[in-house]
Amino acid sequence: MINQRVQDAINEQINAELYSAYLYLSMESYLEKNGLPGFANWMRIQFQEEQFHGLKFLTMLTNVVDRLHLNQSLVLKLLGMVSLQYLKKLQNMKHM
Ligand SMILES: [Fe+2]
Repeated sequence: MINQRVQDAINEQINAELYSAYLYLSMESYLEKNGLPGFANWMRIQFQEEQFHGLKFLTMLTNVVDRLHLNQSLVLKLLGMVSLQYLKKLQNMKHM
């Protein structure tokens, strides 16, 4: 069991990681639309990296607390990202 203050701070960090992922995702979209696929791809890689950071903190927190309380915005972000990735895969399949 860890101190509640530490748990809250890690929760905040998870949100910051996912927020960063969202920023990279929006930049990817902008660059792709403006004919810069190489830069867009770099943003996609950063997006995935930030997701990885968020999930790493989440796994760590899950292992040290009895019951994990995630705030609603975090859960919505995770669901949104999974949906977005799924939609992008569907879009890519349409172009094959
Ligand atoms: Fe990060």
